[in-house]
Amino acid sequence: MEILPHDLQLYLEDHCDPEPAELQKINRHTYLKVLRPHMLSGHFQGRLLSMLSKMIKPRRILEIGTFTGYATICLAEGLTEDGLIHTIEIDREYEEMLNQHFKSTNVDKKVVLHFGPAAQIIVQIPEDNFDLVFIDADKKNNLLYFNTVFNKVRPGGMIIIDNVLWKGKVYGAENDTDTKTIRELNDHIAKDTRVEKLILPVRDGFMIIRKK
Ligand SMILES: C[S@@+](CC[C@H](N)C(=O)[O-])C[C@H]1O[C@@H](n2cnc3c(N)ncnc32)[C@H](O)[C@@H]1O
Repeated sequence: MEILPHDLQLYLEDHCDPEPAELQKINRHTYLKVLRPHMLSGHFQGRLLSMLSKMIKPRRILEIGTFTGYATICLAEGLTEDGLIHTIEIDREYEEMLNQHFKSTNVDKKVVLHFGPAAQIIVQIPEDNFDLVFIDADKKNNLLYFNTVFNKVRPGGMIIIDNVLWKGKVYGAENDTDTKTIRELNDHIAKDTRVEKLILPVRDGFMIIRKK
């Protein structure tokens, strides 16, 4: 999953804030109990999400792809007093674990957990002024999610999309379906004049988008 050399990745982790103890437990618990644990954001990316959220001070956040709640909790760190984070997960298997994780980190009152396919749920959420959206679910639908959520983001609001470098394949010669889909997403957003954008080479590539 790492684009950067492993030594550099370790150096970055050593020179940011330590992973909070409760998040360390969730990280470990995910690796012990859940298939494909590498999907979790982890220490460095989690601190980045927390930092961005604290800079934005959002009142409303939407996360697409909850998994075991690691990024939800990091994003919730920047919420205003009356802030809420809506998060969408298709797989009910995580429900019990998610409720435990949100309770143990005291964010349970700030999280609205939705189960179902994101494309259907996004349009049902009664919010139209998101300050921050994190897209991190099934990658083939990233463009659909970007387009569906766009009118629900306030001007000046941010959309973050994970995995846009796809282990470096997007700028290589690979032409498999997944790589082509992610390349098309990146090209589409690069040309979209309604937004400012840049890709941060963090982990698997983090696209930061600001709605004008
Ligand atoms: C990469 S993981 C999310 C990781 C999490 N955001 C974090 O950083 O810790 C992707 C999640 O999206 C969920 N997912 C996949 N397809 C989905 C869909 N169509 N609608 C909602 N969630 C979906 C998966 O079940 C998985 O839990």
